[in-house]
Amino acid sequence: SLRVCVASDAEAAAELAATRILALLREKPTASLGVATGSTPSPVYRALARAMRSTPLDLSRARAFALDEYVGIDPRLPQSYRSVIDAEVTEPLGFDRRLVSVPDGSATDLAAAASAYEASIDSIGGVDLQILGIGHNGHIGFNEPGSAHDSLTRVVDLAEETREANARFFDGDVDLVPRQAMTQGIGTILKARSIVLLAFGSGKAEAVAQALEGPIDQASPASALRRHADVTILLDKAAASSL
Ligand code: GLP
Repeated sequence: SLRVCVASDAEAAAELAATRILALLREKPTASLGVATGSTPSPVYRALARAMRSTPLDLSRARAFALDEYVGIDPRLPQSYRSVIDAEVTEPLGFDRRLVSVPDGSATDLAAAASAYEASIDSIGGVDLQILGIGHNGHIGFNEPGSAHDSLTRVVDLAEETREANARFFDGDVDLVPRQAMTQGIGTILKARSIVLLAFGSGKAEAVAQALEGPIDQASPASALRRHADVTILLDKAAASSL
C-alpha cells in the first residue's frame, strides 16, 4: 500500500524520513539502506547526522547502496555520485566505506558491472529501506520515461531535460553533463522492502500527480511504486499542490 504525507515543509518531511531510517538501523544494525542523490535527500542525511550527534548510533555494520552513477565520470570528481554519497552519507554518518556501494560508471565492461551491481544487492538479501527523489519528468534513479517497470541495473541514456536539470552541478554547462548513467532499474528499486520517496517544491507537483493519480505506465517511472506493498510519499505543500 502507499501512504502520502504532506508535511508542513521540506525540513519536517526530512525529519520524518530520518526517524524511519533511525528506527530501522536501531532494530537492525546490519540493515541495508538505499540512498539517493540530488538535492531532495540532502536534508534527510543532515537530519540523520543531527540525530546521531544527540543519540550516537553505530552504523559501521550497516550497508548502503546508491541508486545510480554517471557513465564515464572520474569517481574522484565532486560531481560523481560516488563523491556525493561519500560526502553526504558515508563520512557524516559513519558508514564503513567497504559497505557502501555505488554503481561503477567508469568500468570498462559496463554491462558486466551493471549485472554485478544487481547481483551484489541480491546477494545480501536486498535493500531494507530505499530513499528516493523524483525527477521533473517522473524519473526515479535515472530511469527515464519509457523505462520498463521490471528493468534491472543497466546503462541508460539521460533525457535532455534531466541533463539540463543537472547542469547546475556542472558549472551550469549542460555540455559537461554526461549523456549516460548506470542506474538501478525500476524492478531493482521495487525489490526494496520499504520505499520512502520525497519531493519538494512546485516543480515536482506535476510529476507527483502523474505518479500517484495518472495511469500506471512507462510514461511515469514513479507510477510503478503503486504496485509495491510498502511505500511512503513525503511531500511539502508545493509538491502536493496538483493532487
Ligand atoms: C537526479 C537523480 C535522481 C533524483 C532526481 C531529482 O537526476 N538521478 O535520483 O531523484 O534527479 O533530483 P533533485 O532531488 O535534485 O531534484
